[in-house]
Amino acid sequence: MSIPAERQDLRLMRAMFSTIAPRYDFITRIFSYGMDRRWKRRGVQMANLPERATVLDLASGTGDFSRLVVERCPQAKSIAVDLTERMLRLAHERGIRDAVCADATVLPFPEHTFDCVFIGYGLRNFPDLNAALREIERVTRPGGLLVTLDFFLPANPVLRQLYVGYLYAQGGFWGLLLHGRPRIYTYIPDSLRSFVSIQDFADRLRSFGYASVKARGFIFGGIGLHWAAKTENPGQVAAP
Ligand SMILES: C[S@@+](CC[C@H](N)C(=O)[O-])C[C@H]1O[C@@H](n2cnc3c(N)ncnc32)[C@H](O)[C@@H]1O
Repeated sequence: MSIPAERQDLRLMRAMFSTIAPRYDFITRIFSYGMDRRWKRRGVQMANLPERATVLDLASGTGDFSRLVVERCPQAKSIAVDLTERMLRLAHERGIRDAVCADATVLPFPEHTFDCVFIGYGLRNFPDLNAALREIERVTRPGGLLVTLDFFLPANPVLRQLYVGYLYAQGGFWGLLLHGRPRIYTYIPDSLRSFVSIQDFADRLRSFGYASVKARGFIFGGIGLHWAAKTENPGQVAAP
């Protein structure tokens, strides 16, 4: 997928993720204290997918959610979508066959295609989160699910400062060690600083036509899993 010249934000995003792609899985384990797989597996379990579910793994990176979905439901079909071709090549090497290069705000699928959309650590990276949520809601069938795992700002202001500071220190250390570039992983706290708390994100999902939103926090609210069912009558909800 070629990115229009005026979308400098997407170009920079793709360039950054192309650089870190080969180390991405390793660094994810570090930043999640080895808990990442457990959280994602929990996200998939709680989704309670139908046997032959059609699933979107959005901002898939190397395709963790797709692998966990097929591990749990071997007859399910999971499509990995990512902006960064290099991430999708790694996903392909790791057994993901259905992969599409696209921007989260312009998904090449008809409306009501998916039983469930999974997003691991993607939300904060979308330049226009509201546009991405509208597009995700469009491609999800009524009653279908959105499951997200991401970093969030802890609700407690002291913990928030400590957590963001810690992520800068951690990112700087690993960036210097692995790439000789201390700022390469500080995109995590950079994007987090202007993000929201677990509770605020749950409220935003409700305003986008999702009912029965459930959330679970880890690491003092610094990581959150959300499950949200799209309302059966989406026409009745006015998304912002
Ligand atoms: C932090 S990685 C997450 C990878 C994987 N989902 C996981 O759970 O580990 C974020 C991914 O989002 C992708 N991404 C960033 N902006 C995007 C956009 N606008 N549309 C689609 N993918 C995007 C990046 O290319 C990157 O692979």
